[in-house]
Amino acid sequence: MVFEETKIGTIPVKNRIIRSATHDGMVGPDGAPTDALIRKYVGLAKNEVGCIITGYAGVAEEGFSNYPGMLKIHDDSLIPAYEKLVSAVHEAGAPIVLQIAHCGRQTSSKKIGQQKVAPSNVIHTFYPDRAEVMSDLLIYAMIDDFVEAAIRAEKAGFDAVELHGGHGYILHDFMSAYGNRRKDSFGGSVKNRAKVVELIIKRIKEKTNIPVWIKISAEDNRRNGMRIDTTIEILKILEAAGLDAVEVSCGTVEDGMNTMRSKLMPMAPVFKYREPVASFPEPLKKVFLPAANLINPLIKQPTPLENFNVPNAAKIKAALNIPVIAVGGIHKLSDMEDIISTGKADFVSMCRPFICEPNLVKKLHEGTQTEAKCLMCNYCGLVIEKDPTKCLYGRV
Ligand SMILES: Cc1cc2nc3c(=O)[nH]c(=O)nc-3n(C[C@H](O)[C@H](O)[C@H](O)COP(=O)(O)O)c2cc1C
Ligand code: SF4
Repeated sequence: MVFEETKIGTIPVKNRIIRSATHDGMVGPDGAPTDALIRKYVGLAKNEVGCIITGYAGVAEEGFSNYPGMLKIHDDSLIPAYEKLVSAVHEAGAPIVLQIAHCGRQTSSKKIGQQKVAPSNVIHTFYPDRAEVMSDLLIYAMIDDFVEAAIRAEKAGFDAVELHGGHGYILHDFMSAYGNRRKDSFGGSVKNRAKVVELIIKRIKEKTNIPVWIKISAEDNRRNGMRIDTTIEILKILEAAGLDAVEVSCGTVEDGMNTMRSKLMPMAPVFKYREPVASFPEPLKKVFLPAANLINPLIKQPTPLENFNVPNAAKIKAALNIPVIAVGGIHKLSDMEDIISTGKADFVSMCRPFICEPNLVKKLHEGTQTEAKCLMCNYCGLVIEKDPTKCLYGRV
């Protein structure tokens, strides 16, 4: 079933394996994809990936990431660069979806040179500078930013847009009672908390014909955060608004390594790339690193490590009528077959496995390999804080 030709809604795909959104960090100074990024995506497409979801693309300056190299889609001048990307990927045989995002309070005002904004005044563990609480005016401006981004994506020829509704970014914050403490019509009840995303979908539908997907954290570890029952309630509202597909993820950046679970994160790269430790003076790092290496194995990691969003994807699939994509720790062809043949999800997506093996789908299809070689060490997720992503072990 995995390698059967099918459709995601109206989009034809040659198999059910999707490349999940991955911040590659390969953009020009204006946030447009570089030729190197285009070559990377063409490589994935030529190696039989069913569909590519781009890394997150910022819809507004105040919602940009503090990581360097975020794609941007906040201005019409970027459309020609995306047209070039889309036509190259289509020519190589795969559909391509633009993930559109606003980081909310999960960024740093100092790094982005703009006052960051959020639904409520909640301090982020890793980005503790205060966000401006959004007025109605700012909320409607952000809704417009997402809609304009979708219009640009349609003009550039993308097959769909995926709203980044997970991992602690602004849409996740609006939907969760943890990030959203508002007392107005955007906060309180589940319906009110879903309203921003509902309006974005309805307005994109009014102005374009582009399919709209969402990536959602079905659960997170925050008090009053996302829980599967509420997630399903929200998704039903979004489905009624016209949502075309959902990718089921989990967690937030504050959850540590819940979204991208790891067996044991290598401490040397943590000290090189992750703030605030990356900025410690070298002599201090020399003292702390051996201690960190000793403590590291004792730190409890989220479990299970594999297929960790599949149970929630299955619950969502049972409750909705749109295609469901499961992401997170999916590495084995036998698991993919099981997930799809037993109807737990319609599609599977992967991120880290494609960083070290861009030709993974071809290898699985040809039978030369039955599982990904990625070790889930998360070095690739640390590197992006300063550089384009890469695998610790190169291409394997
Ligand atoms: C280097 C890196 C970059 C990522 N960038 C994004 C992103 O731009 N948007 C997104 O929704 N998720 C992003 N993620 C999360 C992945 O898409 C995915 O949800 C997570 O890694 C779990 O899937 P996996 O086990 O197949 O890696 C990123 C993860 C990594 C490691
Ligand atoms: S650095 Fe390589 S092996 Fe480690 S998680 Fe990333 S892709 Fe996998």
